[in-house]
Amino acid sequence: MSPGRGDREPSRSAPIKTRDVVYQQTRGIEIDPRRLRERRIITPSMHDPAEAAYKVLRTTVLQKMRANGWNTLGVTGARQGNGKTLTTINLAISLAREMNQTVLVADFDLCHPALARYLVDERVPGMSDYLRGERSISEILFNPGIERLVILPGNEPMADSSEKLSSPLVRDLVGELKTRYPDRFVLFDLPPVLAGDDVMAFAPNVDAFLLVVEDGVTTKEDLRRAYETLGATKLIGTVLNKAQGVHETYAYT
Ligand SMILES: Nc1ncnc2c1ncn2[C@@H]1O[C@H](COP(=O)(O)OP(=O)(O)OP(=O)(O)O)[C@@H](O)[C@H]1O
Ligand SMILES: [Mg+2]
Repeated sequence: MSPGRGDREPSRSAPIKTRDVVYQQTRGIEIDPRRLRERRIITPSMHDPAEAAYKVLRTTVLQKMRANGWNTLGVTGARQGNGKTLTTINLAISLAREMNQTVLVADFDLCHPALARYLVDERVPGMSDYLRGERSISEILFNPGIERLVILPGNEPMADSSEKLSSPLVRDLVGELKTRYPDRFVLFDLPPVLAGDDVMAFAPNVDAFLLVVEDGVTTKEDLRRAYETLGATKLIGTVLNKAQGVHETYAYT
């Protein structure tokens, strides 16, 4: 069900169960499992060695987040193409399978939104519509046929992304996403940390960061600069993506 244009989501005082949020508040888009497999997205029927590595990543992330009472995680990398979006989606799927919580994945890579393209071919309403005031969040969220997973897609690339990411509008949106439903876990698919000041601008909105490192591509110097930019306090881990010479695709340090 998609509420009408301009509708507000129910007030915070109204008791809402997670299931209701997914299945009544959020419209569903059925996605062909073949599409997911082609794009290396883990599916229940897939016996992929990467899945085991994502479980390790999931458990490590969950332990660190729970120990600190955190529920918002920004996923970034040093440069473009390191695997941020794919890691975000697969981590979210793995989290949604394990938890009784809703996991929301939000595309905050405003310059190069690509999250939706992993899941659907058609243009779906997204962040740029919201930021232009043309759509409510209720109209943008969708469930991709995976239980407890909700997607907040991007759509058109936007200029002045760092100004937008540090704006009160985005701050209020993130506040709403993370507090409206207390048992929700929010993952943000972010731009590369060294590509500009977007990640810095958005940093106050997240509890923690995960850094995706591309094996053989991310240089030591980029890694050093990424660590420096993110700050030791917010960085909870590093994912080695496209790891060469190991059975699993991912390792976690
Ligand atoms: N572990 C992996 N094994 C093989 N291919 C991968 C892996 N991770 C990502 N890729 C591929 O690398 C490409 C870039 O991945 P992805 O879109 O996740 O990167 P990104 O860091 O989000 O890029 P951008 O900065 O453009 O947003 C995609 O074609 C994706 O399928
Ligand atoms: Mg991406």
